[in-house]
Amino acid sequence: MPSTRDIIESVLERPSVFKSKEKLFPEYVPSYLPHREEQLKSLAALFRPVLVEPGSISQRVLLVGGVGTGKTVTARRFGIDFKALARRKGIRLEYVHINCHRDRTLYLVMQEMARQLRIPVPPRGLSAQEMFNIILRQLEERDEYVIVALDEFDYFIEVAGSDAVYFLIRTYDEYPEATKRLNFIFIARDIYALGRLDSATESYLIRNVIRFEPYTSAELYDILQMRASEAFYEGTIDSDVIKYIADIVGVDHGGSGNARLALEILLLAGEEADKEGAPRVTIEHVRRAHTSANPNIAIVYDNLIHLPLHELLVFLAAIRVLKRKNVPYVRIGEVEQEYQQICEEYNEKPRRHTQVYEYVMDLKRLGVIDARVSGKGYRGKSTLIGISAGPLELLEKKVVELIESKRGERSGSI
Ligand SMILES: Nc1ncnc2c1ncn2[C@@H]1O[C@H](COP(=O)(O)OP(=O)(O)O)[C@@H](O)[C@H]1O
Ligand SMILES: [Mg+2]
Repeated sequence: MPSTRDIIESVLERPSVFKSKEKLFPEYVPSYLPHREEQLKSLAALFRPVLVEPGSISQRVLLVGGVGTGKTVTARRFGIDFKALARRKGIRLEYVHINCHRDRTLYLVMQEMARQLRIPVPPRGLSAQEMFNIILRQLEERDEYVIVALDEFDYFIEVAGSDAVYFLIRTYDEYPEATKRLNFIFIARDIYALGRLDSATESYLIRNVIRFEPYTSAELYDILQMRASEAFYEGTIDSDVIKYIADIVGVDHGGSGNARLALEILLLAGEEADKEGAPRVTIEHVRRAHTSANPNIAIVYDNLIHLPLHELLVFLAAIRVLKRKNVPYVRIGEVEQEYQQICEEYNEKPRRHTQVYEYVMDLKRLGVIDARVSGKGYRGKSTLIGISAGPLELLEKKVVELIESKRGERSGSI
């Protein structure tokens, strides 16, 4: 019998597919951001005057895009690099990143700005305005310039209101002669959040807008590939697996285009592989990871209950073919063949091709399967079917249960 120490040791010594798991965490800022070159260029162009003629303008830029489109990481990366370039030119520039979801009043924003700039302020008794004046004076004294990124700015607008935003962006209006030391990057999910502001303030903000569109599968593939090469040992994750995740999440394949979700699935899939001591991450690990990253899967299970018997049989056929071939996608023709075989097993008369196709489309609408038209690498055009909604093992069990209970019901009612 193994000693308790052996048991503990066996876990500690189990090899992992990860070389450096933290590289997949949301707070890590990679040094290269595929497919955000245009946004970085725009930022550089807009903030150029801060380096060329420091103090001449107070720049304000608005970054807009949905969740996981890379707004935060792009702003942070820009901050790091821009600061280094400024230093090289002998300009003292700081980058401050504030999450307004946490600090959603003017007072809290000022306090956080002072903290990051290491400007001492009394812990209480000051108003936001007084604190702001201390910060401005200190910057003057230190001859420093700052880019302040106000992330999740939607919350700030909602809670702090129009006056607070006005106060921030009009800092230098009353002192046109002053050296402009503060610059802003505002980050918001959608531009409609600004609708709450008065129109003068709004038009001030939307002068320089940089948009972040949801990522396509091809873009996510590059992003995941790059992040995976930092996080995983070589040879532990195939490009097939990465492509599979990119296809699940890509906006052009009906996904959300959210890089955060894609990275989370990648991380969880690696953890699934480690859990069973597997030497490589497989498609099946991704399916499992997708289930835990996606709480909506429970709803998918609930939907299955209401499906007609033959739709369940088609679903079961897809599960079995995918399981047997151990690939991300199979052709609809193969699924149909399997379906006919299953019908024989159950002594059911198979439905016609058009009906099977309808079932497939319905399963797709329900989010139970992924269906798409084949592209490169396949002979002829054909509908391809994949299932990311969970471990095939579990799905199969569930579907077989449902099929048997439906058949039971029917024979009972005759
Ligand atoms: N182009 C990219 N290259 C590498 N990683 C990216 C890229 N875009 C986003 N990410 C990563 O995806 C996750 C979500 O990005 P984030 O900047 O937080 O999105 P947003 O702020 O728009 O919600 C982060 O882990 C981030 O590092
Ligand atoms: Mg963000």
